[in-house]
Amino acid sequence: MTVDYDTLAKTIAALTEGETDQVALMATIACEVHHADDRFDWTGFYRVTAPGLLKIGPYQGGHGCLVIPFERGVCGAAARTGEVQLVPDVDAFPGHIACASSTRSELVLPVRDASGEVIAVFDIDSDQPDAFDKEDADNLTRILAQVFAC
Ligand code: SME
Repeated sequence: MTVDYDTLAKTIAALTEGETDQVALMATIACEVHHADDRFDWTGFYRVTAPGLLKIGPYQGGHGCLVIPFERGVCGAAARTGEVQLVPDVDAFPGHIACASSTRSELVLPVRDASGEVIAVFDIDSDQPDAFDKEDADNLTRILAQVFAC
């Protein structure tokens, strides 16, 4: 299954229209994205709740670690650098946090508010190696901006 990102973006726009509560927005996006593609085994948000600290937000999938410091893991790298992390092989990523041992590849995107501040990261994990590409990253970045940076 491959995501139809245009339809997904429209669905999320319709579902979140007029909503400003960040947890409600994150829960809706996690659900819609997770069920849009078989590649996605864990889909969710880590929120910046203190300087240098991420805490679990709304997600779909198995148990996720509750706290991730900025200096750890793929999520920490996305939050720290403000850049998309496309990881084809998690075993080759120094400091990868294995919440699920089945995870083979990851895509983590910074989530910015209207002022450009990183307020969270959006983490998608796959049991398949090299599951994600730049098209996934670009489309999901667009969807996140449409919801959180407007
Ligand atoms: N993927 C993360 C850890 C979080 S979980 O896998 C849900 C990381 O290494 O940053």
